Amino acid sequence: MIKACIFDLDGVITDTAEFHFIAWRKLANSLNFDFNKEFNETLKGVSRIDSLEMILKLGGVEKTDAEIQELAVIKNDWYVDLLKGMTQDDALPGVRDLLIDLKAKGYKIGLGSASKNAVPVLKFLDMLDFFEVIIDGTKTTKGKPDPQVFQMGAKALGVKPEDTVVFEDALSGVQAALNGGFTAVGCGSPENLGHAHHVVAGLNEVTEEWISKL
Ligand code: G6P
Ligand code: MG
Repeated sequence: MIKACIFDLDGVITDTAEFHFIAWRKLANSLNFDFNKEFNETLKGVSRIDSLEMILKLGGVEKTDAEIQELAVIKNDWYVDLLKGMTQDDALPGVRDLLIDLKAKGYKIGLGSASKNAVPVLKFLDMLDFFEVIIDGTKTTKGKPDPQVFQMGAKALGVKPEDTVVFEDALSGVQAALNGGFTAVGCGSPENLGHAHHVVAGLNEVTEEWISKL
């Protein structure tokens, strides 16, 4: 029986996945190469430094560790600039209503994100209070597809993976949920997320009743 829901942030709660894409692409362009949306799919759910290493490899660019740290700061500054001006209206369709309903029906609610910007993003959305537990990139040591982020979330919520559903838009995130023994709901297209237990276009297609039957 599902007792808890753990949500990824970027691309599930809000469309910051697009901001990550814009900022990473700007960085790649500044290094004289480009990448497309298909490659971007492989970056979703991946930590800042690991994403950067994948991008540099794609462009055939070699950098020292110090330069990599500097580039990560540049990208994050651009990303944080894109976040400015975000409001409550930037939550994806159906998210707030679903969270309100889940809370009213007594589900435990957690966040499981690789982002170190998760708390400010939730504050922009005025959604911080929905989450009993927030496990983000400041707390984890292993990135998705390792299940650590969701395991830490379930433990802090006091639930078992088999009683918990994870909502994810990333290939690596769905895999992390499966690796941890969670019910995995992919938010996006079945072509990308076909390995999930269920795929929905977005949380606007999800209701508490649907979750109760998982
Ligand atoms: C999420 C996003 C990734 C991003 C990662 C780290 O998992 O899907 O695209 O690289 O968080 O985010 P941060 O905000 O810490 O750079
Ligand atoms: Mg995501």
